Amino acid sequence: MGEEIKNYTENIHNEEYKKDFCSPVLTAANMFYDKGREKESLNGCWNFQIDPYDTFLRSRWYQEIEEDEKGRKLPLDYDFEHWEKTTVPSCWNLVDDRYLYYEGAAIYTRKFEYSKQRENRVFLKIGAANYETRIFLNRSFLGYHRGGSTPFYVEITEHLEKENRLIILVDNKRRPEFVPMSNTDWFNYGGLYRDVELIRTLDSYLKDITVQLSGDNYDAIKIKVEVDGLHKNGMAEIDIPELGLGEDIRVKDGLGESIIKACPELWTPGNPRLYEVNISYRGDQVREKLGFRDIRIKDGDIYLNGEKIFFRGVACHEESFENGRALIEEEIRENFRLAREMNCNFLRLAHYPHTGKAARIADEMGLMLWEEIPVYWAIDFSNPETIQDAENQLKELIKRDKNRASVLIWSVGNENPDTDERLAFMKRLALKTRELDPTRPVSAACLVNHVERKIEDRLTEYLDIIGINEYYGWYDPEFDSLIEIIENSKPDKPVFITEFGAAALAGHRGAVNELFTEDNQQQVYRKQVELLGEIPYIKGLSPWILYDFRCPRRTNRFQRGYNLKGLLSRDKKHKKLSFYIMKEFYKN
Ligand code: GCU
Repeated sequence: MGEEIKNYTENIHNEEYKKDFCSPVLTAANMFYDKGREKESLNGCWNFQIDPYDTFLRSRWYQEIEEDEKGRKLPLDYDFEHWEKTTVPSCWNLVDDRYLYYEGAAIYTRKFEYSKQRENRVFLKIGAANYETRIFLNRSFLGYHRGGSTPFYVEITEHLEKENRLIILVDNKRRPEFVPMSNTDWFNYGGLYRDVELIRTLDSYLKDITVQLSGDNYDAIKIKVEVDGLHKNGMAEIDIPELGLGEDIRVKDGLGESIIKACPELWTPGNPRLYEVNISYRGDQVREKLGFRDIRIKDGDIYLNGEKIFFRGVACHEESFENGRALIEEEIRENFRLAREMNCNFLRLAHYPHTGKAARIADEMGLMLWEEIPVYWAIDFSNPETIQDAENQLKELIKRDKNRASVLIWSVGNENPDTDERLAFMKRLALKTRELDPTRPVSAACLVNHVERKIEDRLTEYLDIIGINEYYGWYDPEFDSLIEIIENSKPDKPVFITEFGAAALAGHRGAVNELFTEDNQQQVYRKQVELLGEIPYIKGLSPWILYDFRCPRRTNRFQRGYNLKGLLSRDKKHKKLSFYIMKEFYKN
C-alpha cells in the first residue's frame, strides 16, 4: 500500500494526532525585550480557512506533500493560495458573519520574502492569538503556545529561506482546563488579533530589561539587564539624555545590574512625565519611553510618590463594536479619553491582559492601570497543567509591562470560590507575582462572604489590596446587606470595590424600579456612591463597566447578546445617566 494510502488510513484512525504538536511549548522563557526595536510587520492580507475537524493537523497539510513517490500529483484537500483572504490582526468573528459564533481551529497562512542583512538571528513575535497557537514555517513545526492574551516569540533563524511559507494555526475552543475556563461573561473572540512581526538581532542581544525608580528619596534609578546569545560578558550602556545620564553596566554571565543616582521628575496621572531611555549591548539597542514613579502601601493607605491617592476608576473589557478584541490605537485612546471625561485617574483592564499598547498609551495619557490574568470563576484549580498555564500568562504579562509607569497593580484573578484548591493555586500566583515584581501591589477581585455578611476571603492574606465585587441594588436588590457587610468588615488592607453596577438598555427610560432602564441604573449608582463614598478603608472604585459589551450569556429582549452594565452604549456614543453620577462623584 503506497505512502499516501497509509497516510490516508493513518489520518482517519489517529485520534492522537495532536500529540506531535504540543511541544516545544513557547513560554515566557522565550520572550525577549522587543520594545523600541526595529520590527518588520507581517500584518496585512493573509489566506484564511476555518478547520472545524482539525484536518490540517490530522493530514499534516503543512508538509505540502503534493506528489507520491512516483511523482504523480495527489488529490489535495487544501489550497493555501486559493483560500479566502483575511486581515491580520483581526478577530475572525467580526470579519465574516459566517464566523460570528465559530469556535474551533482556523488556519492563517502567507508567504514572505527574507533577505539577510547585518543580523545574525531572527525571531517571530505574535502579539497574541486566542487561545492555542501552533506555528509552522517552511514545512517545519516550530512550537505551541497556550494563552489568549499575551505575546509569544519563536526563533526562526535556522528555518528561513528566500521565499517563506508561514502558517499559524489558532484554536479558540473553550475548555474547562484552560485559563479562562469554558464559562465567561464575555465573548470568546478567536484569531490572530494582535500584531505579527519579525525581529532581527545580532548574535548577542538584550533579552530582558528592568528599569525602575529606587531609593527612599526617589533619587536613584535601578537597572537590570539580561543578555543572551554568543557573548554573555561585556558592557551594557544606559543613556537617558534628558537627565544627562549615560552609564556603563557590567554584564557577567548574561546579567548586569546597577543603581544610578538620578532625580527624574516623577510620573503621576496629572503629570505623566516620560523620559527617553536607550540601552545598548554589543551593538544591540533598545529605545524606550519610561516614566518613573513609586507606589507604596502604609497603614491601609496607598501612596503614589509619597502622596496619598484614591483610585477613581472604571472597569473595561478589551473590545470594540467594530473590531472585537483587535482594538486599534485610536479606540484605546477614545476609551481612555472617555474615562478621563468621567474624571477617572484609573482603569481596571478586565479580566485578561489587554494589548501592550494600552499601557503605553496610559503611560502617555496619565492613567493608572490594574492588569489581570484570566483566573476567572471556576478554574480547574487542581490541574497542574492549568496552574502552569496561569503562571505562564502571569510571567508573560509581567515581563511585557513591568517597565510601564501606568501599571500599578497586578491582579491574579476574579470571583473564584474560596476552596482549598483555589487558595493553593492563587496563593502560588500571588507569591510568584511578588517574586517577579516586588515593586507593585498584588490584588484579586474577591467575593464578599454573603453568609457571614462581611469581607472575608482566605486569599486576602496573600494580597496587598483587596478587590471586592458586589452588585447590591442589582443581583441582590437590597442595599441593607451592603451596609451590614461594610459595618461587619474591618480589613487591615486597602479595599477596592472592583465591580458594582446595574444593567440598562441605552436610551431606555422608565420608573426607578423598572429593571434595564437608565433610571433604575442611575438609582443604583446613586445609592452605591452614597454608601461607598463614606467608607474609610475603600481606596479605589472601578464600577462595572465603561461600555456595554458582547456576551452570549445575555439573551433577554433588552440584552440581545450584550451585557448592558455599561455606563456607555456599546458604540460608546451614548452616555447613560449613570455616567454623570460617576463623573460628579469623582469630581468631588
Ligand atoms: C461579574 C464578573 C463580570 C461580569 C459581571 C456581570 O462580577 O466579574 O465578568 O460581567 O459580574 O455580571 O455583569
